[in-house]
Amino acid sequence: MKKWSPNSWRGMPIKQVPVYPDPDALVETEKHLASYPPLVFAGEARKLKSQLAAVAEGKSFLLQGGDCAESFAEHGADNIRDFFRVFLQMAAVLTFAGTQPVVKVGRIAGQFAKPRSSDNEEKDGKTLPSYRGDIINGIDFDEKSRIPDPARQEMAYRQSAATLNLLRAFAQGGFASLENVHRWMLGFVSDSPQSERYEALASRITETVEFMRAMGITSDTNFALRETDFYTSHEALLLGYEEALTRVDSTSGDWYATSGHMIWIGDRTRQPDHAHVEYCRGIKNPLGLKCGPSMTPEGLIELIDLLNPENEPGRLTLIARFGADKVGEHLPGLVRAVKAEGRKVVWSCDPMHGNTITLNSYKTRPFDRILKEVQAFFDVHRSEGTHPGGIHVEMTGKNVTECTGGARAISADDLHDRYHTHCDPRLNSDQALELAFLISDLLKTKQPDVSRKAANG
Ligand code: PEP
Ligand code: CO
Repeated sequence: MKKWSPNSWRGMPIKQVPVYPDPDALVETEKHLASYPPLVFAGEARKLKSQLAAVAEGKSFLLQGGDCAESFAEHGADNIRDFFRVFLQMAAVLTFAGTQPVVKVGRIAGQFAKPRSSDNEEKDGKTLPSYRGDIINGIDFDEKSRIPDPARQEMAYRQSAATLNLLRAFAQGGFASLENVHRWMLGFVSDSPQSERYEALASRITETVEFMRAMGITSDTNFALRETDFYTSHEALLLGYEEALTRVDSTSGDWYATSGHMIWIGDRTRQPDHAHVEYCRGIKNPLGLKCGPSMTPEGLIELIDLLNPENEPGRLTLIARFGADKVGEHLPGLVRAVKAEGRKVVWSCDPMHGNTITLNSYKTRPFDRILKEVQAFFDVHRSEGTHPGGIHVEMTGKNVTECTGGARAISADDLHDRYHTHCDPRLNSDQALELAFLISDLLKTKQPDVSRKAANG
């Protein structure tokens, strides 16, 4: 295999790359970034990899989620807190239902760069370069804001550092204690129009918490109930930024991306002879790889050869994102190829990106289709005898109206009300937690799901 270095991607074809009008300013910014401290430590990335190895072995479940695109405008403590609060509740529900540890990975503290289906956006007869995420240009539809500006990379770095700092404080400072999470969850259940659907599971969790308390096992006495491991992830799209934050780990001598614990390759930039795969193959972090409908079994094995040549469990998470109506057609062939070749991977389900539709000129995703894709993903793995290892969702802790459906039945006419996303529609806090409760039914049935199929006729 050809020699790798943090900048070996530069000689290769690349997609989704912004054109900066002032290349000297870009070089200057990258120099600054290269001199700044890393955001994460290599040892943390290794710890995440070992936890993902347990997922690959069927012993844990992965919950990955957060904004489609973080924004500079929404960088407040409330947003971070509300996201984390819902995320922890989802994790608690999934842990209890699956009786397995849940590995918690946010799409946060670095998720700023977006691949776009078109280089340009047209509105009212005017054409401008597309918005590519706050790390690159501005979302306002005017000429000036759409010019790629390198200074934004330093803003994104600083925002990531501040976000991560608060998340670390929350994860370790008592906010994430089981008692808190349990109390929030009871609040959700009692307020939900579908509360009777969730009550049985919620009361079993309550009984367990009370039993533990009676035994003297509380967050005061047990650190596992008081603290949690939480990791960050984002799409490694803006490779100049990633390169500047790629550092040698002094304890192992290996190269790590220090912009986040886990990074992934998007469905549009996974060509095996292109720059994004080249960059990712050389760093030791856990990697994600989005697999959409154009992925073939042979193409997937070729990418696994490049990205995980040593077949290390936990290194590679395959994130299936086909759409509810396509997953049954595409996923089995990929799962079989991976299994037949003995490749150790985590299989995760992104039920968001294949289920986007337009209603009243808003991009949205129907909650039913999201749930249906997750169910189909579980069905495929159950019948192939493989582990449905996790989910990857776009969500927020706020009460937005971006995805239709859910217990509060958001309709096409409601979308305009609180449609705040900077890119794709996210599950709001109720929809996200509801999804976790509905997935808990799938987790309880560990074996090929004969009972559910029979019950459904
Ligand atoms: C995303 O995760 O926001 C994304 C763009 O996904 P994909 O590469 O799967 O389209
Ligand atoms: Co998205």
